[in-house]
Amino acid sequence: MATQDVIRRAEKLREEIRLHDYCYYVLDAPLIPDAEYDKLFRELQSIEAQHPKLATPDSPTQRVGGKVLDGFQPVRHAVPMLSIRTETDISDQGALAFDSRVRKELGLGENDPQVVYVCELKFDGLAINLRYEEGILVQAATRGDGETGEDVTQNVKHAVRGLPFLLEGDRPSVVEVRGEVYMRRDDFERYNEKQRQHGLPTLVNPRNGAAGSIRQLDPTLAARRPLRFFAYGLGEVQDWVFTTHNEVLEQLSVWGIPVSSEREEVDGAQGLVGFHRRIEQQRDSLPFDIDGVVYKVNSLALQAQLGFVSREPRWAVAHKFPAEVQLTVVRDIDIQVGRTGKLTPVAKLEPVFVGGTTVSNATLHNEDETRRKDVRIGDTVIVRRAGDVIPEVVGVVLDKRPAQVGALFDLFKQLGGHCPVCGSAIVREEGEADWRCTGGLFCPAQRKEALLHFASRRALDIEGLGDKLVEQLVDQQLVATPADLYRLDLATLANLERMGEKSANNLLQAIAAGRQTTLARFIYALGIRNVGDATAKEMARHFGSLDNFMAADAERLQQVPDVGPVVAQSIRAFFAESHNRDVVEQLRASGVHWVEQEGVTLRVLALSGKTFVLTGTLVGMSRDVAKEQLENLGAKVSGSVSKKTDYVVAGSEAGSKLDKAQELGIAVLDEQQFMQLLKECETK
Ligand code: IVH
Repeated sequence: MATQDVIRRAEKLREEIRLHDYCYYVLDAPLIPDAEYDKLFRELQSIEAQHPKLATPDSPTQRVGGKVLDGFQPVRHAVPMLSIRTETDISDQGALAFDSRVRKELGLGENDPQVVYVCELKFDGLAINLRYEEGILVQAATRGDGETGEDVTQNVKHAVRGLPFLLEGDRPSVVEVRGEVYMRRDDFERYNEKQRQHGLPTLVNPRNGAAGSIRQLDPTLAARRPLRFFAYGLGEVQDWVFTTHNEVLEQLSVWGIPVSSEREEVDGAQGLVGFHRRIEQQRDSLPFDIDGVVYKVNSLALQAQLGFVSREPRWAVAHKFPAEVQLTVVRDIDIQVGRTGKLTPVAKLEPVFVGGTTVSNATLHNEDETRRKDVRIGDTVIVRRAGDVIPEVVGVVLDKRPAQVGALFDLFKQLGGHCPVCGSAIVREEGEADWRCTGGLFCPAQRKEALLHFASRRALDIEGLGDKLVEQLVDQQLVATPADLYRLDLATLANLERMGEKSANNLLQAIAAGRQTTLARFIYALGIRNVGDATAKEMARHFGSLDNFMAADAERLQQVPDVGPVVAQSIRAFFAESHNRDVVEQLRASGVHWVEQEGVTLRVLALSGKTFVLTGTLVGMSRDVAKEQLENLGAKVSGSVSKKTDYVVAGSEAGSKLDKAQELGIAVLDEQQFMQLLKECETK
């Protein structure tokens, strides 16, 4: 017999766990750490194990465990599950056409008021009917053919996060909630990552993830798939009356059922257009995939009046967005060389319209990805292009693999070990995903990119030196390195395609203007691997001069904030190449120079007017460098001690100058104090 205390404790735990489930899965704002949640959960499990009578069907613990099924039982729907007409005209016209059809059917004239609609997202998953009797979730069924679906109660209970097993508050004796089971993109990625780590099969996309999991016969396997649910309508309802669709959604939410907050009640055609546009813009920032929006007449009375045509309601329509995912065939796999020599496999595709444009190339990222997805020439693949993102091959449809398919991708073998552009050796460093060409500025592919980078906004900001121009300059061997830009003349430039005298003149002026820059921009412009503009700024601030920067060894480079061995190694490797050092010298010789940047100017003030004398041997820094650093900070460095001397820096074995300073009562800094001073000035 369970005591009152135990019964109350079980109730309390159930209530608490449900609250945490709701916060975690529906609101996405967990109140407690996972470990705390697990504790509550285990306590409830143990109470129910000792007192099986307390294990009510609505207990959150009922989600766990479960037997493998032989198959799914058919479920005849009390109210048929219909589909909706899809408006394939993805322009505003799709919305306008729907509104005019509705108005016509309702016999509304031009002067009659606007129809009120509810706009929702069109979720991309699997339609499910949830049957609640006396508030308890008793059955979940797929849509099937609309008349008869399959009983997937166990799987839904196991795998769908955030679904109440018991409705909150007042509830009807029977209510069927209809909506979509879907998988969030981040859950999908995380799931696939875990599968990959264990060498297990991955899901092709979130939609298949949702549909496949619900029809998975082993509920414990289904339970591992992180699914979610959004409600968008009703099936059978007893003892409850609604008058508008909006009211339905509000009430579902009150019962604790997840309803997307991306919904809106709008007036007339313009309202529909506005929603369609707004959601299309937000599409890529939503945490889950959608393939359009759905418009529904709000008034249930008007819905009844409108009725159905061929099993589709006249009061609702799905208005699509351009598809972001399409199937197509891989004709070839090319390997492209990037600015830093990175070799990227790219699938050459049978052109396909996806994400609003025709795509014929899609990135395969790198060798490992290509092999993991096992993309081969001849394969039918899923291509995705979302927003402004580079089109990518998501996966292969193995069912469609032809007998005559290409071999498993092998980058080194395909290239015979050489860069496809310049013939230099290719390398793949340990722990790196990418193969690289070792040609550096010598490789024409890298040349073009190096020039574009050199001219880019955050580098030397040479306006007008774009893609097409760089292409011509390099291909016609007019320019090989950035230094060659300063040798170009008007006649040469004016003769190029799409250039007249005027553009040529403008470009020459822009190139000349780029001569005056800052040290940070110059360092960034060199295009050293792993040195972005933030790192370049730190370098300029820390070293103060290009020579100091170029001379710094790996250890000194790592004294710069946020610089680790990888960045230091990239910088050392860059300056180890004689042709890179040559380019730097040529640039300087052609008049490229820098004005002090903000940070440095401030430092100049830090010691201005102060006179220093260096004596003895410094351990951490040569006397020349110490002198240069002081001068960079605005100080004067003198060879002899006098009354005008402000500080004497005394290294080891300092001799007469130290004595003199002590005699005159001048401040003496040992090496440690001196370094401290430099550091303080630098941060000023
Ligand atoms: S309403 C009678 N609303 O799209 C109206 N359907 O053919 C029934 N879907 O597979 C559907 N989001 O699962 C409706 N907000 C939404 C929806 C939606 C996705 C799916 C639905 C069905 C298909 C409609």
